[in-house]
Amino acid sequence: MDGLDTLKAKYLTAVAGAADETALEEVRLAALGKKGEVSALMAGLGKMDPDARKAAGAALNVVKDEIDAALRARKAGLADAALDERLRTEWLDVTLPGRPRRMGTIHPVSQVMEELTAIFADMGFAVAEGPQVETDWYNFDALNIPPEHPARQEHDTFFMHRADGDERPPHVLRTHTSPVQIRALMDKGAPIRVIAPGRVYRMDMDQTHTPMFHQIEGLAIDRNISMANLKWVIEEFAKAFFEVPSVEVRFRASHFPFTEPSAEIDFRCSWEGGQLRLGEGDSWLEAGGCGMVHPKVLRAAGVDPDHFQGFAFGLGIDRLAMLKYGIPDLRAFFESDLRWLRHYGFAALDMPNLPGGLSR
Ligand code: DAH
Repeated sequence: MDGLDTLKAKYLTAVAGAADETALEEVRLAALGKKGEVSALMAGLGKMDPDARKAAGAALNVVKDEIDAALRARKAGLADAALDERLRTEWLDVTLPGRPRRMGTIHPVSQVMEELTAIFADMGFAVAEGPQVETDWYNFDALNIPPEHPARQEHDTFFMHRADGDERPPHVLRTHTSPVQIRALMDKGAPIRVIAPGRVYRMDMDQTHTPMFHQIEGLAIDRNISMANLKWVIEEFAKAFFEVPSVEVRFRASHFPFTEPSAEIDFRCSWEGGQLRLGEGDSWLEAGGCGMVHPKVLRAAGVDPDHFQGFAFGLGIDRLAMLKYGIPDLRAFFESDLRWLRHYGFAALDMPNLPGGLSR
């Protein structure tokens, strides 16, 4: 049957030439589909006499099987090629470094607060909190600043309005974080070791002052705590915060109503070439105040000064942030300028910790 050979050759060529699975399916339909050429020949077998039908049927089946096998093989080949193509175009190098996408930005003040918390947590200090709207008792009296004390005027306090006829002294916006000392002591008693970072308010506004700013208070009370412990803690803090091997700390005699003795804290530094370097040079950088907690303060907070003593300190957080991250103007901290924030801010998922590095 010459016709069959031609038929076979035609379809095998078509199978080989089918460029994709759609083209191949068309070939299959044309040959083996219900209305296909081979199927039509099969249908024609019925009209033959039995002997001829047997021979023709067998030959036709062979051709049909061959075309079918070729179709299957080609189909598998096309599927492999399609997969290869997909693998080639969708290839992804998983060893490439990730592309960081910024998810918000952490304000330098928040960053520094987290850094301070990590540093002091490492020295056993827990975080304490207090309200920003305070009574004058917590903000002043309990800290040994009675009503007639000149320190009250120096604090440029914001007073909260009271309803007409209400004779009680007005609430204040806390002028420092020191009232948290009182609250923590009254709440937890002694011994205690806490820090209290937070917002404070004073009526003041220029290049280095804003009406709201941030402080961190430290308080450690126990039976044998001395000024030497205080100095060590401040030194360790300064080294960790400025990420330098050593910082020389100077205590300059001072006065605060809530500490006795009191000192101002200076760090040795150099400003050579307009750049601040901690731990070297002939300049001193004022960082905050500190001292041994006054017995009256302990008593006001319900702690017996005959059995307990300890130190307190207060540092300006905004100032620390400006120094560490080279930010020249304090007012920009609170202007909510996104460009400024993107420039000076920190990645949201990089929480500062001591083992990982504070300010990667
Ligand atoms: N509260 C003081 C201020 O705002 C800072 C301060 C000084 C806090 C000495 C202290 C301290 O705890 O011991 O000016």
